[in-house]
Amino acid sequence: MRVDVVSIFPAYLDALDLSLPGRARRAGLLDLHVHDLRTWTHDRHRTVDDTPYGGGAGMVMKPGPWGEALDAVAPDGATLVVPTPSGRPFTQAVAADLATREHLVVACGRYEGIDQRVVDDASGRLEVLELSVGDYVLNGGEVAALVVVEAVVRLLPGFMGNADSLAEESHADGLLEYPVYTKPASWRGHDVPEVLLSGDHARIAAWRHDQSVRRTAERRPDLAHPAQALGAADLDGLL
Ligand code: ADE
Repeated sequence: MRVDVVSIFPAYLDALDLSLPGRARRAGLLDLHVHDLRTWTHDRHRTVDDTPYGGGAGMVMKPGPWGEALDAVAPDGATLVVPTPSGRPFTQAVAADLATREHLVVACGRYEGIDQRVVDDASGRLEVLELSVGDYVLNGGEVAALVVVEAVVRLLPGFMGNADSLAEESHADGLLEYPVYTKPASWRGHDVPEVLLSGDHARIAAWRHDQSVRRTAERRPDLAHPAQALGAADLDGLL
C-alpha cells in the first residue's frame, strides 16, 4: 500500500518510522511519503492560511496550496482521507475498508480547517472520506492521521505475525476484548481467574466471550447490543 501524508508539520509523522508502521515499511508492505504543504506555496512567506469569509474566529487553510498538493500526490483512483472533527466516525470497519485500498492520501488540516472547495474539487476525481477519530478537538489532523495510518497498516495482509490476534482483539467482532493475564498466577494477592489455568479450551473460550459481553455492556452500551451474543442464562444482572 502507498500512503502519502501532506501536512505543514511533517515531523509529526516521524513516529511512523517507529514500531509497527516502521516494521511494515521495512518489510515493503507500506510505501509511505510525507510532504510539506508549503512546497506548494509561491509567496515569500509561504502562506497557507487566511481569514474566513463570513467572519469568525481563527484562520482557514487556503485552497491554492492544497489544490496543487493533491494534483501532485493524489492520482485518479487514490482515496483521499481528510481528518476533521466534523467527519464521519473512524471505526475498525472503516480501517478494514481502507486497508483494501492501494493508495491513501491523507490531508492534514490545521486552524479552523481547509477551505471546503478543496474537498469538493477533489471529490470530482477521488473518493474522499472526511473522518473524525473521536468526539474531541485536536490542534490539527496530524495526530488523527497517525491514528488512521496505524490502525490501517496493522490490518495489511502479511503485517501481523499472528492472524488470530487480529480476530480476537477489541472491535473485531463488535465486542470489547476480554481481560488478559500472564505469569505469575498470583500477584500482590490477586489471582488469575481459575478457568484460565484449567487447560479446558472450551470453558476458557466461553469465559472470555462472557467477559467480552459484560465489558461491552458496561463500558460501551452504544455498540451493537451485546445481549444478542448472550445465552439466556447469561443475561442475569446485565439488562
Ligand atoms: N482534527 C482535529 N480534531 C480531530 C478529530 N477529532 N478527528 C480527526 N481530525 C481532527
